Amino acid sequence: MRNYYIAGNWKMNKTPSEGAAFVKELAPKVAGAKVKVLVAPSFAALQAVGDALKGTNVLLGAQNMAAEESGAHTGEVSPAMLKDLGVKVVILGHSERRAIYGETDQLINKKVKLALAQGFEVILCVGETLPERESGKAVSVTLGQLSAGLKDVQAEEMKNIVIAYEPVWAIGTGKTATPQDADDMHKEIRQNIGSLYGPPAAEAVVIQYGGSVKPDNAKELLSMPNIDGALVGGASLKVSDFEAIVKAV
Ligand code: PGA
Repeated sequence: MRNYYIAGNWKMNKTPSEGAAFVKELAPKVAGAKVKVLVAPSFAALQAVGDALKGTNVLLGAQNMAAEESGAHTGEVSPAMLKDLGVKVVILGHSERRAIYGETDQLINKKVKLALAQGFEVILCVGETLPERESGKAVSVTLGQLSAGLKDVQAEEMKNIVIAYEPVWAIGTGKTATPQDADDMHKEIRQNIGSLYGPPAAEAVVIQYGGSVKPDNAKELLSMPNIDGALVGGASLKVSDFEAIVKAV
């Protein structure tokens, strides 16, 4: 059985003190939840949020990671630095990293392999833009990002891979994929993982949906057979909204 997984991606929001105050309020409210819960603050807030999360069931994630272990990479954050801060999970390949910061499938794949080798769980984000969807390329683009992101990832490493399907046109726009459209894509992703790694890996992989998930649409999305969780941006910034999404499972 796959475990539901709700992750909050704060993006470039919340200072360290705001983040710490937020999780102190959130953690007791989701303490009894049977789902896996994660928050991913900015690098700058990881220490403060991680300290505030000690002893809770909420996991600490990073929104990105360097593709190298150490050295002359001004402005980058290494796997060892994240580990030292108590980070267990890294989000890689977010569409904002791809579109605004020019991250390619190749770079993302390098990060995925390094993160797995360093013992992190990876949330690999994939998803098409609106023109790609409108021209009938949604599935090929999404599966292309998936197989490129997972290139040379071994079957035994798949237990540490989570996929987030985030149609770019639904991110931060208030537009959501219909539960059926999202589930159809999740099914494609699951089948693709099956052909790459075999049926047990397909059955086991957790696939989150992301893109304007809110308290009022979470239940419907999460009730679909192939949607195992959510990667939540805007609605993860308010305790009551994020709590409601966790409790919608
Ligand atoms: P959103 O962001 O929930 O604000 O649409 C989702 C994401 O980018 O992960």
